Amino acid sequence: MQKTIFITGASSGLGKLTACHFAANGWNVAATMRSPEKETELTQIKNIAIFKLDVTSPTQVREAVAAAINAFGKIDVVVNNAGVGAYGPLEFAKEETIDWQFNVNVKGPIQVIQAFLPHFRENKSGMFINISSFMGVTTAVPVGSLYNMSKFALEGLTEGLYYELKPLGIELRLVEQGGSSGNNFKDAVIWNENPAVTDYDVITNKVKSLMSHTDPELLDDPQIIVDTIYALATKQIQQFRTLVGASGQGLMAMRNSMPIENYLEKMESFFV
Ligand SMILES: NC(=O)c1ccc[n+]([C@@H]2O[C@H](COP(=O)([O-])OP(=O)(O)OC[C@H]3O[C@@H](n4cnc5c(N)ncnc54)[C@H](OP(=O)(O)O)[C@@H]3O)[C@@H](O)[C@H]2O)c1
Repeated sequence: MQKTIFITGASSGLGKLTACHFAANGWNVAATMRSPEKETELTQIKNIAIFKLDVTSPTQVREAVAAAINAFGKIDVVVNNAGVGAYGPLEFAKEETIDWQFNVNVKGPIQVIQAFLPHFRENKSGMFINISSFMGVTTAVPVGSLYNMSKFALEGLTEGLYYELKPLGIELRLVEQGGSSGNNFKDAVIWNENPAVTDYDVITNKVKSLMSHTDPELLDDPQIIVDTIYALATKQIQQFRTLVGASGQGLMAMRNSMPIENYLEKMESFFV
């Protein structure tokens, strides 16, 4: 029987590529996005259906999940991909920015998971693939604490859920990607700022410059992440956590090779 995948944040970057890849491999795809009226590419693909979904809206989550189940009968895999980044000194973070970071990256996946659980329990099967980051398993840059918080939280949520979902036949996977090309991530970043204070300028400017690079040598090809998601969904890979890409793997090797105090000092030295 043809399998079906449900993807959040399919309007660009990894979500869109994943939707195209699964459709090309014969899957049905429920591609969800905040503004379906702007979509022109996925609408041309026969086995993709598009649903409106802002993951911060509990009503839209319930409606999109119900509509996708109704359209396809059964959903096999859910990819919690929608994600955003708040960067800049925590001292200047507005409450609405903190809420935005947490609501999109953590509460959104929670609500999508809650909405799918009755369906997965009934089927005694189903898989959640949560798109994390190497920033979910290690820190790497200054002024990224809110993004780190959100992805560490997503990791804890996913690992903690394992115990209650395993007995029900429901599987969980984490994909920890590094920086990749072909997405809108850096353009959507909200920067915490206070022009009256210059104390954080040196490190903030270094992080801004790091994030602005587009050198393909430094960024992973997003297809390797899509291939990993496909291998997880089709159970060719059965790992709970998969770290994808050269940059993340290099960082984790360094992180695991020394005590945390040495790692923090080493990383900090790159930004002073
Ligand atoms: N790019 C990187 O370097 C990188 C590195 C590690 C991890 N990641 C993670 O990879 C995932 C995909 O990001 P990407 O790189 O493909 O960046 P992207 O092109 O910016 O994609 C992010 C997607 O999330 C959607 N989104 C934002 N807020 C949303 C909301 N409230 N409800 C529903 N969808 C929302 C965006 O939709 P709109 O078009 O409506 O804004 C977009 O489709 C994210 O979880 C990100 O944290 C990215």
